[in-house]
Amino acid sequence: MKKIAVLVSGGGTNLQALIDAQSRGEIVNGKISVVISSVPEVYALERAQKAGIPSYVLDRKYYPSSQSMTVALLEKLRELSIDVVVMAGFMTIVTKELFEVYNNSVINIHPALIPSFAGPGCYGLHVHEKALAYGVKVSGATVHFVTEECDSGPIILQKAVDVLPDDTPEVLQRRIMEQCEWTLLPQAVSLFCQNRLRVDGRVVRILEP
Ligand code: GRF
Repeated sequence: MKKIAVLVSGGGTNLQALIDAQSRGEIVNGKISVVISSVPEVYALERAQKAGIPSYVLDRKYYPSSQSMTVALLEKLRELSIDVVVMAGFMTIVTKELFEVYNNSVINIHPALIPSFAGPGCYGLHVHEKALAYGVKVSGATVHFVTEECDSGPIILQKAVDVLPDDTPEVLQRRIMEQCEWTLLPQAVSLFCQNRLRVDGRVVRILEP
């Protein structure tokens, strides 16, 4: 059974999707062992508590640099013998120390079809504002392995939805969450926990069970 750490910084709807998938038995061979937040008192921590999952706060503002924060995070992950790290709305930059230990074992969800609307500055509502301003007719979500370069690691799963003429950033964000993110992230985590993801360079191959 693989031990999963979920990293959060906000509301935690993706964390909730993972918790719900776990309770339906859909995270095969994996267990959410800890929730770690980079921001105190966020609602994601309440979700963890309600589900009986231990949680910790590593408050970014008490660390002098991204590197020192990453080292503290790594220490906690090692102490808990975590196998896979899931970034579910984690808004804090991490440095290479994490990937040296967790190589192809850190998973992130991004609310667009990478490589579109991704990279530095593309987070939260900005992603959807940019997609609408560009006039794309589809957008969606991407689950990918995290590497040192922002939003550039090997893609695990993607799903698209239509962009509709009257969409606002908020409406598009909600559609992408409901129709893409909340199903894709648990699916990808379950595939990882079953050792069904093989990374060949940039390409992730999904192996049959
Ligand atoms: C999601 O849109 C996710 O794709 C992005 O941050 C947002 C987090 O939302 N990385 P929540 O905290 O899971 O509700």
